[in-house]
Amino acid sequence: MEKKVEVSAPGKLILSGEHAVVYGKPAILTTVNRRLFVSISPSLKNEIITPESSSLAKFARDFVLKVLGREEEKLRIEISSEIPVGCGMGSSAALAVAIATTLFKYLNQPFDKEKINQIAYEIEKKQHGNASGGDNTISTYGGFLWYRKETEFLKLFKKLQFDFKRLPEFVLINNGRPKETTGEMVAGVRKLYEKERSKTERILNQIEKVTKQMLEGLNQVNHRLVKLVIKENEELLENLGVVSGFTKKMIREIEGKGGAAKICGAGGKIGRSGIILAFHPQKEILFEIAKKENLEALEVKLGEEGVKDEGED
Ligand code: MEV
Repeated sequence: MEKKVEVSAPGKLILSGEHAVVYGKPAILTTVNRRLFVSISPSLKNEIITPESSSLAKFARDFVLKVLGREEEKLRIEISSEIPVGCGMGSSAALAVAIATTLFKYLNQPFDKEKINQIAYEIEKKQHGNASGGDNTISTYGGFLWYRKETEFLKLFKKLQFDFKRLPEFVLINNGRPKETTGEMVAGVRKLYEKERSKTERILNQIEKVTKQMLEGLNQVNHRLVKLVIKENEELLENLGVVSGFTKKMIREIEGKGGAAKICGAGGKIGRSGIILAFHPQKEILFEIAKKENLEALEVKLGEEGVKDEGED
């Protein structure tokens, strides 16, 4: 019988610290109950079956096979996903992590998360340029992480043990896929950093402060603090120029009705800015706002398991 192996990796959310994490500031990362599945079986030729573009999957496959010295393998790779693409939920990181893990399993390598995460980081860099490594790390390990990239070769993270039954109930509003890629948004912030260094450094330092307050808010289950901090974080991200006019308008409406919201991930400047993390003590209000704008609102489970084996046949 032909061997077929399957692995899944989760999508992610950045609760606080996107963009600043590229500059060595901390971020609070978590996973969601939306996963990407990769299965691999032997084939006479190399094939990738995917609903999205196959260029990243092809790069990831070739990269992992090279690392493992198995470039001669002929494989059929099938990809399916529940994670919206290009919206800040880590679909490319989940792809990199899941392809690396599936190939490791298929080629009887040990399930070494550290090695898999390192390989996924190299793949992420190809996709996003100067990536922090946060997205691949949370998709690999799951749960909630405090993450900081000290240098290119030293990335520190610690599992946070939140009781997520007591956490605020966040609602995600899919504001739509940004025109820009994550790589372009990261490059845009770099340009600002080079042009207006001290102003940008001030914003990044303030984001670090807000991330620490978010940690306190989540740890103490202090909904008022969490709401306040989300609002401040959004303001700082707007000052970095990563939020579009359309998205700002919607977030002002959420704030006007007593809630708070922030973009999640790289954002987008021209049209839409991807997934928005929103909080309101009466979450129905958020659903009403999303409905009015014809946007999808999702309630997701946070802190889901990282990359995992889905079995073989
Ligand atoms: C993208 O999901 C998050 C960014 O901070 C980039 C990165 O961390 O690599 C914008």
